[in-house]
Amino acid sequence: MAILVTGGLGYIGSHTVVELLNNNFEVVIVDDLSNSEKFILKNIEEITGRKPVFYPFDLKRRELLTQVFDAHPVDGCINFAASKAVGESQLKPVDYYENNLFSLINILQEFKERGLSNFIFSSSCTVYGQADNMPIDENTPLKMPESVYGKTKQMGEEILADFAKAYQRKISLLRYFNPIGAHPSSKIGELPIGIPNNLVPYVMQTAAGIREKLNVWGNDYPTADGTAIRDYIYVVDLAKAHVAALQKLMQSTSDETLIDIYNLGTGKGSSVLEVIKAFETANNVEVPYQICDRREGDITIAYANVDKAERELGWKSETSLEESLRTVWEWQRYLESRNV
Ligand code: NAD
Ligand code: WQD
Repeated sequence: MAILVTGGLGYIGSHTVVELLNNNFEVVIVDDLSNSEKFILKNIEEITGRKPVFYPFDLKRRELLTQVFDAHPVDGCINFAASKAVGESQLKPVDYYENNLFSLINILQEFKERGLSNFIFSSSCTVYGQADNMPIDENTPLKMPESVYGKTKQMGEEILADFAKAYQRKISLLRYFNPIGAHPSSKIGELPIGIPNNLVPYVMQTAAGIREKLNVWGNDYPTADGTAIRDYIYVVDLAKAHVAALQKLMQSTSDETLIDIYNLGTGKGSSVLEVIKAFETANNVEVPYQICDRREGDITIAYANVDKAERELGWKSETSLEESLRTVWEWQRYLESRNV
């Protein structure tokens, strides 16, 4: 079985490629390296002892994509490729719509023309906005996200739902909560390109002395310690969910459900201060921080109800917050050893 993995050298993509290779799938990666590095490919090979096919180009170039499909009969696709920085998406909306939606549509054109099925889309808990009730299950009403990035995810979901219905193809929409951590080998992880926006990479760089202090965005939220709550899911657990979702798509017949939707999280919420504490305890390091005003656009609380994924995929997250945060620190050590 050959799977096209777009964005396969990126953070979640690279971990998923490792799990696919470990499960004997053939993998064809397309990644333009706009937010990743070529050495990740070599490290994937070192971890798995297998060599994925790799094409470095921009998915917006349909003619190159056509050549990949001509050269490799694929049985499915996991589409990670997208621009993902929320703040940047507000400043460059047209670029975000172009990159995230044109790439998706180009792949779907190939799928449509070639009669292909089994498409997995990287969606996000951002499609729920601030949900009224916790935990968030898949029937929770969607709210149009505030950010352009979030809108591209919601639009992507709608495009795929129409694609599935019109052409009778099977798709899976995976709504990730907050992925964290790195592979236990420390050879792949989240690459720090520029100043991190997300909490855990910022915590990592503060502990390492690259940043002076972590800004905690708000301690006046209606939560136990006043800081906002999220569901932090270990990236290797998340990667394994993709294999389970793919296997389910491949095994189901097209008269079963065409559209699978799963929340992928741990089911447990942690506050910003709890994450800082857990990082300090796990790694025996200090994370200096200061309390600041709330960050615009942030929600108070989001954590997943993961019963559906457990019931239908036989998957659930296995790794504790502390254990995940230990891998973050080991990854930082690895980056230092490489001068990245
Ligand atoms: P990432 O930036 O590490 O990986 C994305 C990869 O896609 C990068 O390697 C980049 O070079 C590549 N890429 C981007 N545009 C491309 C294009 N036009 N052609 C070819 N390659 C292209 O991001 P990630 O954290 O691994 O996220 C993967 C997916 O999951 C994204 O779709 C993201 O929106 C989604 N997601 C991420 C998170 C998160 O917090 N990391 C949460 C929810 C959803
Ligand atoms: C987590 C918490 C911050 C940085 C983003 C995207 C969302 C999804 C997941 C892709 C919040 C606080 C953060 C810092 C802080 N991605 N924080 N100081 O906000 O849940 O969501 O990533 O789909 O679309 O918006 O994640 O890691 O940015 O923040 O206090 O320096 O940490 O305020 O409460 P978030 P995050």
